[in-house]
Amino acid sequence: MKYAKITGWGKCVPPAVLTNDDLATFMDTSDEWIASRTGIRERRVCHCNFSDMAIVAAKRALAAANLDASEIDLILLGSLTMDSLCPNTASIVQNAIGARNAAAIDINSACTGFLYGLHIGTNLIRTGAHQKVLVIGGEFISHYMNWARRDVAVLFGDACGAVVLEACNEPSGLLAAKIGCELDTGEAIQITNLGSAYSRLTDDFLYPDWNFEGQEVFKRAIKAMAFACDDVLQQTGLTIEDVNIMVPHQANRRILDALAKRLGIPEEKIMVNVHKYGNTSAGTIPVALTEALEEHRIKPGDHVLMATFGAGLTWGAGLVKWGERVTPLSISDAELPPCHQTALEILAPHIERYSARAKE
Ligand code: UT7
Repeated sequence: MKYAKITGWGKCVPPAVLTNDDLATFMDTSDEWIASRTGIRERRVCHCNFSDMAIVAAKRALAAANLDASEIDLILLGSLTMDSLCPNTASIVQNAIGARNAAAIDINSACTGFLYGLHIGTNLIRTGAHQKVLVIGGEFISHYMNWARRDVAVLFGDACGAVVLEACNEPSGLLAAKIGCELDTGEAIQITNLGSAYSRLTDDFLYPDWNFEGQEVFKRAIKAMAFACDDVLQQTGLTIEDVNIMVPHQANRRILDALAKRLGIPEEKIMVNVHKYGNTSAGTIPVALTEALEEHRIKPGDHVLMATFGAGLTWGAGLVKWGERVTPLSISDAELPPCHQTALEILAPHIERYSARAKE
């Protein structure tokens, strides 16, 4: 039976840092409130296109696998904040990195986009349909944020990550996954005024707005992720004690603590970076996975448990058996274009737009 080993990994976090204190300069919030309710201290704001982040993350993942982009036969890009709907953004990345032999597919399942992509890519390799797949997940969510909404705006940030999957014969890569979507919760996290539904065809698209039922999502997230984790452990015949490290979706430190307690996994086995980046949606798991490797927290043969949830409400978990290599084969020199503004300067036109509208 074929497996899909993770042979490359990379992240791209934009340089402009937006701290909790920065947010408090233009909305009624505080570092104390944000840090105590979410664990978030700062997040990044993208100064270029979403695809620029995806391209850099992809090039770094390809270098780590020591592959030329032309060897990739499929690109799966998970995000809800694409550069473009037509052409799709995966094709923009495919062109930019020179992956001339790759098909290119966008996946929009919100925060779960990376794990959904990892599951699809792995299974396309396992059937023999594809050999080398690039799975990217990330978000340019600052672009879609309502900067007048303190209950949503403080939670998110921009970033992107990527992995390379290659067919192999020994058990390695995603051994089992469970993905799903709840019924009757579509409105719990919603950008209310973008899309082609007739109700949304108004000038309001200039001011993306959110419906966000934080407490409802909080409770459902823990339940759904715990269910999905139990399922993948059962599928693989492993127990929680066999898990060496958990790399979960980073939405809220309190969610991670509650999930760890429910699963019975010690805190020191959970990879946490939500304090640095906030919730980067489809970017959280590939960025946290890359940082876990950079920090030497993943060892050859480790069992890595992933869990995720997001708008939909979509959810999932995956159990990865890591291969023998935990260091990159080579390093890419890809970088984002230089950034000459602070995060507050980048956001100023958006903040101004929302505040002018509030005065209308
Ligand atoms: O990837 C999926 C993304 N979704 C999530 O991860 C959401 C999961 N939910 C959460 O993380 C939490 O529910 C939140 C962090 C969103 C909210 O935490 P909470 O403890 O559930 O707070 P709350 O919604 O009950 O709000 C408590 C108070 C309210 O004031 P009143 O009505 O008690 O006077 C809010 O207006 O805190 C107020 N508040 C704020 N205060 C200062 C809400 N946002 C802020 C803010 N700064 N940024």
